[in-house]
Amino acid sequence: MTQITNDTINEIRNRTDIVSVISRYLPLTKRGKNYFGICPFHDDHSPSMSVSPEKQIYTCFSCGATGNVFTFVSNYEHISFIESVRLLGEKLGYELNNNYHVETKNPDYEICSLASKFFQNNLYTSLGKNAMDYLEKDRKFDKETIKKFELGLSIPKLSVTEFLLNKNISLDKLINLGISNNNSKDIFLNRIMFPLHDLKGNVVGFSGRIYNTKDNSKYINTKETEIFKKNSLLYNYHRARDYLKKNESIIIMEGFFDVIRASTIGVDNCVATMGTAFTTTHANLLKKITDNIILCFDGDKAGEEATISAINVLEKVGVTPKIIRLEEKDPDEYILKRGKDSFIQKVNNPISTIEFKMKLLKSTHNLTDINELSKYIDDSIKELSKTKDDILVELTLKKLEKEYNISYDILKDKYNKYQEKIVNTNKIILNKQINTNKRMTKYELASKNLLFYMLKNSDIIAHVEKKVSYFPTEELRMLSNEIIYYYHKYGTLEIADFITYISLHNNLFELVKEILNMNLKDKYTIEEINDYIKVINSYNKDNQINKLNIKLKEETDPLKQAKILKEIMELRGVK
Ligand code: UTP
Ligand code: MN
Repeated sequence: MTQITNDTINEIRNRTDIVSVISRYLPLTKRGKNYFGICPFHDDHSPSMSVSPEKQIYTCFSCGATGNVFTFVSNYEHISFIESVRLLGEKLGYELNNNYHVETKNPDYEICSLASKFFQNNLYTSLGKNAMDYLEKDRKFDKETIKKFELGLSIPKLSVTEFLLNKNISLDKLINLGISNNNSKDIFLNRIMFPLHDLKGNVVGFSGRIYNTKDNSKYINTKETEIFKKNSLLYNYHRARDYLKKNESIIIMEGFFDVIRASTIGVDNCVATMGTAFTTTHANLLKKITDNIILCFDGDKAGEEATISAINVLEKVGVTPKIIRLEEKDPDEYILKRGKDSFIQKVNNPISTIEFKMKLLKSTHNLTDINELSKYIDDSIKELSKTKDDILVELTLKKLEKEYNISYDILKDKYNKYQEKIVNTNKIILNKQINTNKRMTKYELASKNLLFYMLKNSDIIAHVEKKVSYFPTEELRMLSNEIIYYYHKYGTLEIADFITYISLHNNLFELVKEILNMNLKDKYTIEEINDYIKVINSYNKDNQINKLNIKLKEETDPLKQAKILKEIMELRGVK
C-alpha cells in the first residue's frame, strides 16, 4: 500500500489521458485540436464541453465546469478528489491507501497540533478528573470516543502558553493563533477543549465548553485567524469525508456533541457548523463531495427555523436536501433516550423537503376552515413547483387529490401555472447574474485577465511577482500567492497539476474555474500584460483618492478642504 502524495497524484495524472477517461463516460468527437461532448454537469443539449489533450483539462463553455481528469471523475462519480485519484491509480496498477499525505505543512498547524495534544494530556492528569467525570458520567461518553475526537481540557495551572513559550514559540505567534493573550495568559480557562480542523484535517483552532459551572458563555471559539475561518469550516468534515462512499450521505447537525454522539452508534458521516448559521460556503463545501445531504437539526422551534433556512441555502446551490426531525431536544438526547436503532431508522428514512414543508404548512393552517384549506393546498403546490423530482410531484398531487377530494386536473393546472412563473424568474435571475458580472470593477477584471495568463504561461508569473504590488480583493491576492508559491516550489506550472493542488489545498478552485472560463485568446503581448498590471497597481491609489473625495464633499471647513485637496493632488501626481 502506498501513501498518496502530491508526487503520486501528478504521476498518475501524467500517465492517464483525459480524453480516454472522459470517453468512458460520454462520447467525444474530435474537432480541430480538441474533443467535444455533451456536458454531464448541466442539462446540455448540444456539445458544450471541450477536452484539451494538450493541456489535459476540460472546460464547458456553457455551465463553466472545468478541471483536470480527477475533478471530472470525482464530480461525475460523486466521490472525493482523493478517491478519484485512487480509482484512476488502480487502473494503472497503483495500490494506494486512504491517506493523503500533506507534505508542506504550515508551521502554524504544528503549533495548534502541539496545543491540542497538550490539552488532551491535561484531561488525563489528576487535575482533569472532574472534567473526565463530566464527560464519562454526566455525558456518557466512553474513553475511546473521547480519544477519537481528541477532546482535551484547558487548566490554568497547566498553562498551554507556558508550554509553547518554552518550546521557543513567540508570544506574538500565540496571540495571533488565538491561544494566548497579551499578558502571556491562556485564552481558554477551565474548558473542555474541542480541536477544530480544517478540511484537510489540520488543527486550526479550538472550541472550549464549560462544565460543572454556569459561566455565561457555554462555548467560546478561537477568534478568526489566518488559518481559522469558521465560516468556511465544518466540524468533523475531514473525518466524515473519509466515511463517505459513493452515494452515501452527509448529515448536518447543530452541536459538536451531537456529531460525537452519532459516531458512538456508528453514524460517522455527520458534520456541524461552528455555532454559526449554515451558509452558501458550507453548502458548496458539501456539494463538492456529495449531493446527498441530510439536515438533522435540534428538535425545537429554532431547529425547525434553521432547517428552513438551510434548505433555502442548499437549494440556491442546486442541492435538494433530505430532512430528519426529532422528537427530542437534539440528536445527542434522541440517541441517549431512544437508542441506536430508532435513530438509524430516522437516518435511513429522511423525509423530502416538500414533505417537511407541507407538514409545516399543515400545522399553520386550520384545515377545517374551507378558505384556509384552499390556501394550504395552494401553498403546498407552490412549494411543490420548486422541486425537480417529477415522481415526487406526481405522488404528491395524487395524494392531495385523494386526501381532499379535489380533481387531479385542477391541481395539475395550478402546478403548471407556478412552474411557468418559476421558469420566468429563473430567466430573470440569469440575466441579473450576467449584469452583475459586467459590473465587476475594472481592477478585478484586469486582475482576472492577468491571473488567466499567469495560469497559462509560467513566464508571466515571475514578471507579476516583481511588478504587482497588491491585488484588489483578498481572494485574488490568495490565488496569486498560491500561483507564485507553486511556481517557486515546482519551477513550472502545469495547469492540470495546479488544479490538483488547488482542489486539495483550499477553496480557490471556484475562482480558478471562473478565470479559466473567461476564454481569453491564447496569444498576448507584453504591452497587454503591462496594461493589466498598471490598472491593478492603480487600485490602491484610486481607492485612496475616492475616499478623500468623499471626505472632501462632507467637509465644510475651507482650510480642511484645501488640505484634503492637496492630498488628492499629490496622489494624482500633480505638484
Ligand atoms: P448547543 O447549545 O446545542 O450545544 O449549541 P451542544 O453541542 O448540543 O452541547 P450540549 O449538548 O448542550 O452540551 C450548538 C452549537 O452551537 C455552538 C457550538 O458549536 C455548539 O456545538 N455554540 C453554542 C457556540 O458557539 N456558543 C455557545 O455559547 C453555544
Ligand atoms: Mn445541542
